[in-house]
Amino acid sequence: MKAILDQLDQKREAARLGGGQRRIDAQHGKGKLTARERIEVLLDAGTFEEWDMFVEHRCTDFGMEQSHIPGDGVVIGYGTINNRLVFVFSQDFTVFGGALSEAHAEKICKLMDQAMKVGAPVIGLNDSGGARIQEGVASLAGYAEVFQRNVMASGVVPQISMIMGPCAGGAVYSPAMTDFIFMVKDSSYMFVTGPEVVKTVTHESVTAEELGGAITHSSRSGVADLAFENDVEALLMLRRLYNYIPSNNREKAPYRPTLDPVDRADMSLDTLVPENPNKPYDMKELITKTVDDGEFFELQPDYAANIVIGFARMDGNVVGIVANQPLVLAGCLDIKSSIKAARFVRFCDAFNIPVVTFVDVPGFMPGTSQEYGGIIKHGAKLLYAYAECTVPKITIITRKAYGGAYDVMSSKHLRGDVNLAWPNAEIAVMGAKGAVEIIFREDKNDPEKLAAREAEYKARFANPFVAGARGFIDDVIQPHETRKRICRSLAMLKDKKLENPWRKHGNIPL
Ligand code: HXC
Repeated sequence: MKAILDQLDQKREAARLGGGQRRIDAQHGKGKLTARERIEVLLDAGTFEEWDMFVEHRCTDFGMEQSHIPGDGVVIGYGTINNRLVFVFSQDFTVFGGALSEAHAEKICKLMDQAMKVGAPVIGLNDSGGARIQEGVASLAGYAEVFQRNVMASGVVPQISMIMGPCAGGAVYSPAMTDFIFMVKDSSYMFVTGPEVVKTVTHESVTAEELGGAITHSSRSGVADLAFENDVEALLMLRRLYNYIPSNNREKAPYRPTLDPVDRADMSLDTLVPENPNKPYDMKELITKTVDDGEFFELQPDYAANIVIGFARMDGNVVGIVANQPLVLAGCLDIKSSIKAARFVRFCDAFNIPVVTFVDVPGFMPGTSQEYGGIIKHGAKLLYAYAECTVPKITIITRKAYGGAYDVMSSKHLRGDVNLAWPNAEIAVMGAKGAVEIIFREDKNDPEKLAAREAEYKARFANPFVAGARGFIDDVIQPHETRKRICRSLAMLKDKKLENPWRKHGNIPL
């Protein structure tokens, strides 16, 4: 019996060594952790239960029958993050470059199926050369099995992808369908075709980092949410993100008690908005001064910075924050910001997270590049997302809410539950200057008259009381009481129930 037990230990030891010490050293040499080391950093100490350590590929082509490494390039199992269950797969680059074989895919699918059954999130740590070239279509089939599960799990359990090495070709599409993507700078990249193919087809010379590195995707393409300096930082931040998301679509996000008083007034907010309506201010200051303990977990900070999204807590409960940012493009809505916020609102809605929206929006961005790029359809995504959203929705208009953008940004008309405005809010079809130039065109050569008309328009519309008189705004509040009013509204909305009509699915303008 002892010999059998020892044999098990030896088998485990061999599996833990993956592709061998030489390749582990090479992995470390690139500044990367191994698949198992990453899991250790990510999960609570000692909680990882590994499955399928002895799975091997079944390929017999190109000499593969001579080469079997237990585990076949991916470590899977479950454990906890801050005592909450999570399923993890971690691709092992030391084994056939982490390339995905049929058996490797089966392991990931098994994990995802189990996660769906018990209602727990799936985290994928990606580090792979893509399809296992020796296996051909069997590998492609494996990818498609994973893709199908990504789609079935979407909106049921949260899915998070961490890109910690290569991720190329069709392999990018599994992470693309997950809820959040984190990347590591200088050691990870994602692209549909690599630099060589790009050179051949389009004659562009570009490095892998430029084409699909962490900076590129977190600032230019918007594919990634956040970029980190190294594996450890990325994994620790993933643990923080995990604290804001629920385990599945039937649960609420984890509550965390706070000592921050619900009725804490912040007098500095009374002077946050400059007197001059064309002067910007930092919306993030309002966010951090309003939420519990000033803690705001921002997503995509470097992409479409004219809108701010992220998680925070109010009186211990998780909320999703969406806010126009007057510091960037005056807070206009454009293609990128609409898509960014729409996807976030949909995540919050799918996973029972109330949405708090801070509005200071002068409208949609004008111009040919926006129109040719399809701002009509992309802007409609945000409108659609807010309109279908049934979780509690609280909206604070801090200054401008003009035109269609007023409607879009979680207005009363899109079933906003509580819509509040600061006293200086301007809720109108457009700014006073633009308005009088159109409706009093005949006065365009008479600056004095025009100025008088502008003042008249401002007095009539550049305030929240016209909307308030119709009940489109529930109340006009002092800026310093914003936190208290939001917390009270959230408490009132705690048991909100609202269902959309039955349908197979809507047809969001993609
Ligand atoms: C089998 C692979 C592999 C793959 C790498 N390896 N990629 N084995 N299938 N796809 C193996 C290598 O042979 C090598 O084995 C080990 O992994 C490490 O690879 P290196 O090349 O030495 O590492 P590095 O220099 O860091 O380069 C990494 C790499 C490169 C950039 C990923 O290996 C590469 O370009 N691989 C091919 C990528 C690719 O074309 N994949 C298919 C994409 S199409 P040894 O034994 O020497 O350690 C695709 C379609 C998916 O994925 C479709 C889904 C719908």
